[in-house]
Amino acid sequence: MAPKGYSRGQIALHWGMAGLIAVNLIFEDWIEAGWESVEEGLGPIYDAGTLAHMAVGVAVLALVALRLVLRFGRGVPDLPAGMGGRERLAAHAGHAALYALMIGVPVVGLMAWFLASEDLAELHELGKPAFLVLIGLHVAAAVWHQVVRRDGLMDRMRRPG
Ligand code: HEM
Ligand code: HEM
Repeated sequence: MAPKGYSRGQIALHWGMAGLIAVNLIFEDWIEAGWESVEEGLGPIYDAGTLAHMAVGVAVLALVALRLVLRFGRGVPDLPAGMGGRERLAAHAGHAALYALMIGVPVVGLMAWFLASEDLAELHELGKPAFLVLIGLHVAAAVWHQVVRRDGLMDRMRRPG
């Protein structure tokens, strides 16, 4: 049976990972100097910015694995009652797409770095608009639940249950 709410750990992972992802999106030029050196064939340099971007990204990758273990092991609460079939499909597709980015973006970043591949770096760059669009839709959906539906959805990611 599905649990009544998200656990303390699941909630901490949700907000902690949102923070980490925001750091790499906002401070995207931390890795600029490091990548320029790779692109120019001078080899990787591990300055503080590069190490920080990598550490944050690898942390996201490690934590998403833990999050999936919890999701399939403990489970997640059912979507709020009263949501129609299409809304449920959209919610599941949106969450799945966010998971795909949380895995795909750091994996492609690591591959771009260690293979010194410009094509993979360009693919990694596309992670930015993809994340921004999905996070935007995700936040809009959360606000819609809160203001229009008033089904207490935000509380599910605040109070463990
Ligand atoms: C990088 C940013 C974010 C990512 C990657 C993300 C990802 C996710 C995912 C995958 C879920 C599904 C539950 C799970 O598997 O843990 C979820 C649920 C949720 N998120 Fe986010 N989220 C982000 C930011 C936000 C923000 C800024 C808000 C607040 C406006 C928010 C509010 C919620 C709420 C309320 C739920 C619960 C949905 C439910 O009860 O079914 N998220 N988020
Ligand atoms: C959640 C994790 C990550 C996010 C959200 C993220 C986000 C970003 C963003 C926004 C940029 C700038 C893109 C642009 O110039 O338009 C960037 C560049 C870059 N990132 Fe990441 N990154 C993550 C993880 C990683 C990891 C683990 C690595 C491994 C080394 C990595 C390697 C790179 C490289 C090499 C660049 C330069 C590519 C370029 O500008 O063409 N990233 N990243």
